[in-house]
Amino acid sequence: MYRLGDSVVFTLYGESHSEYIGGILDGIPKEMEIDTDLIDKELTLRRPSKGIGTPRTEPDNVEFLSGIRDGRTTGESIHYTIRNTDTDNSKYDVFNRTPRPGHADLPALVKSPDHKIKGGNQFSGRLTVSVVVAGCIARQFISRYGITVAAFTRSIGKIKDDKERTFDDAAVSKCHATRAASADLDSMMTKEILDASAEGDSVGGVVECIAVGLPIGFGGTWFDSLDAEIARAVVAIPACKAVEFGKGFGLAGMKGSESNDPYYYDNGIKLRSNNMGGILGGMSDGAPLVFRAAFKPTPSIGKEQDTVDLEQMTNTKVKVEGRHDPCIVPRAAIVVESVTCLVIADQIVRGL
Ligand SMILES: Cc1cc2nc3c(=O)[nH]c(=O)nc-3n(C[C@H](O)[C@H](O)[C@H](O)COP(=O)(O)O)c2cc1C
Repeated sequence: MYRLGDSVVFTLYGESHSEYIGGILDGIPKEMEIDTDLIDKELTLRRPSKGIGTPRTEPDNVEFLSGIRDGRTTGESIHYTIRNTDTDNSKYDVFNRTPRPGHADLPALVKSPDHKIKGGNQFSGRLTVSVVVAGCIARQFISRYGITVAAFTRSIGKIKDDKERTFDDAAVSKCHATRAASADLDSMMTKEILDASAEGDSVGGVVECIAVGLPIGFGGTWFDSLDAEIARAVVAIPACKAVEFGKGFGLAGMKGSESNDPYYYDNGIKLRSNNMGGILGGMSDGAPLVFRAAFKPTPSIGKEQDTVDLEQMTNTKVKVEGRHDPCIVPRAAIVVESVTCLVIADQIVRGL
């Protein structure tokens, strides 16, 4: 079991090919109406898109075991499960002897030799189904405070979206398979994924997430900072390797006079720019919260790669067959939104 949050606590369990995966969400107040159609819609965004995703297309039938009665929360633990219908893991046996470069196989086998590789085990992207369910409930909770979260794809492989983007652009991306902010970028990014896939290869990219409605001063300090807790939750998503807020690494090369976001008054205190991504001292400065998360290319690829035979301790080759996403980014966008909603919900209930 893996936990996120202090007051709104999300507990995640399961493995890619276990009979069930699921979650328990504690701390959501009672008498909140839950829109299960919205949960289904968000699960669809996580599912692989035809052509650019893995052909593994099992249904995500969520069964609520407790915490929701007659469509409303009871205030008890919200416990739900999703049955994995596709539990055939025979194609993965080979990775117990010849671990896949880039996947968790080698460290996992050295750490727990008896816990054999069956798919992606607990490291699998499959577990993000459960994250999206909890995130959608958290989303419905934070919407009561006027806070909304949307993400879109900033880049895939060499294709980069260089335009200034708003929350509305991010929301529109839900119509596009790659989660690009425009139809043109969607076709270019689709081609980038298909080209990599045709070569038995994969590509990575960047998801940008925007949250609006956070009041000035919202968020904790030091290890409870809103940005610190979001970064922790986002980097925990499988294949995420970096997170930056606002101009992020770009700030390192700017002068203070360029990087500071000056204030002005117009029916409230506003900012002329948003280089800080809406965060100062771990708290919202009232501008939209903006951060980017970099996802590496999918590790399981059809190309032959160097590895070690763990029985013989000799050099050998491995080639991955079976169902794999040539690009994780389009599916990761909703997962990034989900963990962001969970962190914000937790900070609301903690009164930060
Ligand atoms: C939505 C999603 C789908 C994923 N699909 C695959 C996949 O099909 N094949 C694969 O090798 N890795 C996939 N991954 C990534 C691996 O789970 C991840 O790279 C691996 O567990 C190692 O963890 P790390 O990359 O965070 O170090 C996926 C990740 C996510 C978030």
